[in-house]
Amino acid sequence: MTVEPHLFVILGASGDLAQRKLLPALGELAHRGRLPPNWALLGAARRTWDEERFREFVFQVAPGLRTTPLAYHPLPQPDYQALAARIAALEGELNLPGNRIFYLALPPGALPQAVQGLGEAGLAQSPGWTRLVVEKPFGSDLNSARDLNSLLGRYFQEEQIFRIDHYLGKETVQNLLIFRFANPIFEELWNRRNVECVQITVAEEEGVGRRGGYYDLAGALRDMVQNHLTQLLTLVAMEVPASFSATSIRDEKVKVLRAVRPLTREDVVRGQYLGYRREPGVAPDSQTETYVALRMWIDNWRWQGVPFYLRTGKRLARKTSQIALGFRQPPICLFRSEKSCRVHANVLYLMLQPEEGFALSFDVKAPGEELQLFTQELDFYYQEAFGPLPEAYQALLLDVMEGEATLFVRADEVEAAWQLYQPVLEAPTPPHPYPPGSWGPKEADELLQEDRWLVHD
Ligand code: BG6
Repeated sequence: MTVEPHLFVILGASGDLAQRKLLPALGELAHRGRLPPNWALLGAARRTWDEERFREFVFQVAPGLRTTPLAYHPLPQPDYQALAARIAALEGELNLPGNRIFYLALPPGALPQAVQGLGEAGLAQSPGWTRLVVEKPFGSDLNSARDLNSLLGRYFQEEQIFRIDHYLGKETVQNLLIFRFANPIFEELWNRRNVECVQITVAEEEGVGRRGGYYDLAGALRDMVQNHLTQLLTLVAMEVPASFSATSIRDEKVKVLRAVRPLTREDVVRGQYLGYRREPGVAPDSQTETYVALRMWIDNWRWQGVPFYLRTGKRLARKTSQIALGFRQPPICLFRSEKSCRVHANVLYLMLQPEEGFALSFDVKAPGEELQLFTQELDFYYQEAFGPLPEAYQALLLDVMEGEATLFVRADEVEAAWQLYQPVLEAPTPPHPYPPGSWGPKEADELLQEDRWLVHD
């Protein structure tokens, strides 16, 4: 697909997200020649910077944008009529056709006002197309997500809205669909007859850092599970879509969420790392979870009876994101003692980070007279085959520019995900403490009953 000429407007252009992710990704796209010749960037933010100051800020993190027309519009007051006039003037000057992307790189509290401001100033329509990009969090519970969606819907059509979940921009996450639906040997096995459990682990080594103020109000369930882990869950569990289109794929993802059995207290373990309450911005008696593990059941034909375990946390042993499918044991235990028969000889690991790849483990006989089994692996690493992978934001920004919505989260998907976690948000159990550098509270191991967590080293 080609990218049509357009004006890219960042609201919150002087902020952290713009500096760390958006501008570097745009710079890289420009450097790779992926942006159309007739492309311009307009930054808007509260700071009363002049154009020169903004350009310096941009060039520091995105040298690739040196030859791009850049403009800055200070918005110390939320005057969106003035912004609209500036946009029209700029488009006239640069001979742009009136296609626009508005990227809301704003803190959650500032989102409603910005959406309303854009809408009231007539900026939801333009002489060409207009797209709106919204960052997570999409609300903080079911009601606030509904409110946000209805506010967005008052001014913008759903097709104009691109809700970003940066996990969907990761190459390996996208590749999950190719892996499943282009390789029939795996899809044949991808069901309750062969899979005993599915586990999704997103572990972080870092703590909350300087984001304590935000994080303490959110917690791991809102910050990671409702969005990133749930996206992984739907991609692993979904049915084969009717076509490789945004609508078909997102329809299938929503069906998975609707089939998840309501969570009970027994399905959830919350944890908090020791020392969290002393982090800046965190309440000294905080009950916020920095770790959560969940057991889920998907009540449909494909997955009935297969537990899905999800866990994520900060200050864990190491940074890793992976999905493991543990295949069923042999029906008869021929080679191991009855006691040690419950092992997962066959596990398929989908590794998302830090290294991206796949591994399939299986048992072999060790050479020698004694009968000894060893678990070995077939593996594939992206880096080895293709070199470094592009950063998630580059792929997602390009998709927005092309109007390709498959990797963005639809309104009904957001609400179905919140609905799932609403009981846990409403009646949280106290978090179990865990030592930094561990794999979380031991209570999470008990969720698995006689099973164990499957993590690829
Ligand atoms: C963000 C969360 O969405 O994802 C952070 O707000 C978290 O708390 C981050 O650290 C993890 O992203 P990644 O790509 O490093 O796994």
